[in-house]
Amino acid sequence: MQPLSTDTVVAIIGAGAMGAGIAQVAASGGHRVKLFDVADGAVTTALEKLSAGLDKQVVRGKMSREQADATLSRIEPADNLEALSQAGLIIEAIVENLEIKQQLFSSLEALCSADTILASNTSSLSITALAAKLSNPERLVGMHFFNPPQAMKLVEVIDGLATDNTVTETLIATAKQWSKKPVRAKSTPGFIVNRVARPYYAEALRLLHDGIADCQTIDAALTGSGRFRMGPFALMDLIGHDVNYAVTESVFAAYYYDSRYKPSVIQRELLNGGYLGRKSGRGFYDYSKEQPQPTYLPTSQASGALSVVGEPEGVDSIVSLAMNNGVDIERGKADDVVQQTDYLELDGVRFALTDGRTATERSVEGQHKNWVLVDLSNDLNQCNTVALACSDLCDANALPVVAGFFQQLNKKTIRIDDAPGMVVMRTVCMLVNEAADTVKEGVATAEAIDTAMQLGTNYPLGPLQWGENIGLVNVLTVLNNLFRWYGEDRYRPSALLRRLVLGGGGGYER
Ligand code: NAI
Repeated sequence: MQPLSTDTVVAIIGAGAMGAGIAQVAASGGHRVKLFDVADGAVTTALEKLSAGLDKQVVRGKMSREQADATLSRIEPADNLEALSQAGLIIEAIVENLEIKQQLFSSLEALCSADTILASNTSSLSITALAAKLSNPERLVGMHFFNPPQAMKLVEVIDGLATDNTVTETLIATAKQWSKKPVRAKSTPGFIVNRVARPYYAEALRLLHDGIADCQTIDAALTGSGRFRMGPFALMDLIGHDVNYAVTESVFAAYYYDSRYKPSVIQRELLNGGYLGRKSGRGFYDYSKEQPQPTYLPTSQASGALSVVGEPEGVDSIVSLAMNNGVDIERGKADDVVQQTDYLELDGVRFALTDGRTATERSVEGQHKNWVLVDLSNDLNQCNTVALACSDLCDANALPVVAGFFQQLNKKTIRIDDAPGMVVMRTVCMLVNEAADTVKEGVATAEAIDTAMQLGTNYPLGPLQWGENIGLVNVLTVLNNLFRWYGEDRYRPSALLRRLVLGGGGGYER
């Protein structure tokens, strides 16, 4: 499909944070852009901000003076809606209200030619509902940019029930022409990113709520071990609890109160107190003070040789890192009594990567009190932190043995309480689960979801690819263990994941 020609006039309605940025994107793409806003002075302010932003780009050498001037000169203020009647594409970025947006689209339909494409930058409203009052609903499509639109590559292009395929494909081609990475999705609550990202916040809030670890320890596990760019608490503070809580509530209600998307009372309490995050100076963290650090485990040493028991699939990354660091490794014998396999043993302490069972469960099942679990890392060679949890039955010296082992491999170690799936493993498996359901429901392809999550949220890996790297069978085991432990619908494994595992554990169609 061909993109819209640069002769096509693009109109943007709403000159706020998003509309102004989208105007710049379209103007950089070579279009004449008309910018309209109901508020007096809003377009002038937006143009001043854009001009200042473009100047900065020139100073930083990202753009030539000529390019910056040409971009700005293509954006014209419009005094009223009638001035937009020649546009071939109109993108609205006005207030997030269904009735007001519907009214706007009806007015536009009366003004514009029959083939003008109408697009909405809504982040939470149904594209189908936005089009419902139109005579030609097939011309309306979602074009969801991310903030700031000039810098963020991702654009979700959303099909409503009535959207014409040609309209969607034209906007996908046009977004590419504008140097964006478009992904296609069906109109469903949260589209891709605002839905699939929910567990990143939800699991962190749940762990905090259950007293498994404090904010800085959970953030340190997800950044230091999972290699996410920002921990969930720091990220929620940055987004603002008003915005983050509103998205959570809207997705929760839109999915008929499915417990997967349940908001947290902890976040609501912050909101009640006006602790909005960075913008109010305080959220989970107090920004008037130095930021608290997690408690890293004190330096300790392990003395004996490391023994590997079983076929070490679940511990192979630990074994290869140890071998590369010259640690003595011997082959241990599987426990004759209970046939527990796949663990490492050092100075009588057993340890393994979490599979969703708690450390205490493993102690009891294995009839061995000294059990320590290791959280998932995103490439053990690269990460700087390893999170550990010990069984309630452990002797006091068990944790220092395993901490010392990882410290000798140049990792910082943190302790979290004994909870199923620990922190990183549980978060990643829940992201995989949500992404798998998003594929199963035909909202978007696996490839689109992974692209969207990497570009829209900066995840180090797309969740579906990450799940394949862990092994779908291992992800399912963790989810089954979470579901069994809590007995809550929230942790039910995706039917698609189960089906793929039954079919041999291969990956998704791409
Ligand atoms: P904003 O509040 O910064 O700007 C909205 C602008 O629309 C204001 O200047 C307002 O005067 C104008 N406006 C309101 N009603 C209007 C009408 N009937 N006709 C013309 N202009 C009107 O809001 P923001 O953040 O730019 O969001 C706009 C839209 O983009 C919303 O639908 C929002 O959900 C969506 N969005 C926002 C993102 C964000 O991070 N802020 C990200 C992605 C989408």
